[in-house]
Amino acid sequence: MKSEDIAKIFESFIRHDSDSFHKTALDIIENEKRLKHHLLADELEKILNKKNSNGNGNGNNIPSLQLPPIPRDNEKGFRLLSTKRYFLNWEDAILESDAEDSLKQIFKELQREDVLGTYGLKPKQKILFYGPPGTGKTLSAKVLSSVIGYPTVIVNFESIISSYLGETSSNLRKVFDFIEKGRWLVLFDEFDIIGKQRDDPTEHGEIKRVVNNFMLMLEHYEGESIIVAASNHPHLLDIGVWRRFDEVVYFGLPNKIARKKLFEKYLKVMTKENDVEFDALVGETGGFSGSDIEQACLNALRRSILADKKSISMIELKQSIAKQKDKLKAIGVKINARRTP
Ligand SMILES: Nc1ncnc2c1ncn2[C@@H]1O[C@H](COP(=O)(O)OP(=O)(O)O)[C@@H](O)[C@H]1O
Ligand SMILES: [Mg+2]
Repeated sequence: MKSEDIAKIFESFIRHDSDSFHKTALDIIENEKRLKHHLLADELEKILNKKNSNGNGNGNNIPSLQLPPIPRDNEKGFRLLSTKRYFLNWEDAILESDAEDSLKQIFKELQREDVLGTYGLKPKQKILFYGPPGTGKTLSAKVLSSVIGYPTVIVNFESIISSYLGETSSNLRKVFDFIEKGRWLVLFDEFDIIGKQRDDPTEHGEIKRVVNNFMLMLEHYEGESIIVAASNHPHLLDIGVWRRFDEVVYFGLPNKIARKKLFEKYLKVMTKENDVEFDALVGETGGFSGSDIEQACLNALRRSILADKKSISMIELKQSIAKQKDKLKAIGVKINARRTP
């Protein structure tokens, strides 16, 4: 534990400053996790969560004592969103420089909000992530939430899209009312479901109304949360949707350098046999997403571990890569067409 954190937590107690107490407590937990003191980190987290659930009865690990109740769908009573705190670092997402620069700029603007404010400027707040599936959009939203220290609100679209006419927009209203009361990173994940082209003749009227409503709410949103909408299908997004965002970040399939880093990251846990050549693995996986590479690595690791091997071999990895390619083919992904450099 860092001595400055100990001093901070004492000070928060003396000043009855629960916000500062929570922030410091979370910093300590994050730091212990980084040091791989997982037992201690888990124990501290449990204590903190107990305090929160005593404090506001919502039973989740949000470090705010004034958390309003989680909004629910009137019809079925489902929760319209969930809240969670993540403890990730920049290194957890392996991104190309453009995406990384955009994320770091968003972070920097929030950190220096006061400086921007003296010039009458505000940090960027409404951000669209787009790009193929499995390229780290959801992951990066969690990383951003971790580094800026705002807990994540994940909006549950299944519950938002109500079968009752008119109910959907009122559900969205409830979500926006909730996020207006705090500082969150709000993730509208797989946002296409409500962001589908408004003129799409296959969509029935309700969805169109919801999209219009969503865009109006986004436009008029004046709270302090950061809103991230993530989409795998940018071509489905209406031009009016794009205009509403302050920043659009593209997540591409990983190039050779990124693929190498992904292999290194996901194979870190096991020693490698001498024949394992990262360059060859990278060469085999053009067109793979970050998630594809992770899947292939995890499969190879599982097989090696259960075969009582002490290290992972090139044959095992190549087989897992081939399997992942079959899987992509089976779901209709044309791997050669999306081959990356
Ligand atoms: N750029 C990346 N860097 C590191 N891991 C990645 C990356 N992209 C995907 N992954 C792995 O694949 C998982 C799924 O990715 P996800 O963020 O859900 O993709 P998306 O939201 O773009 O569809 C992640 O949780 C992570 O384990
Ligand atoms: Mg996603």
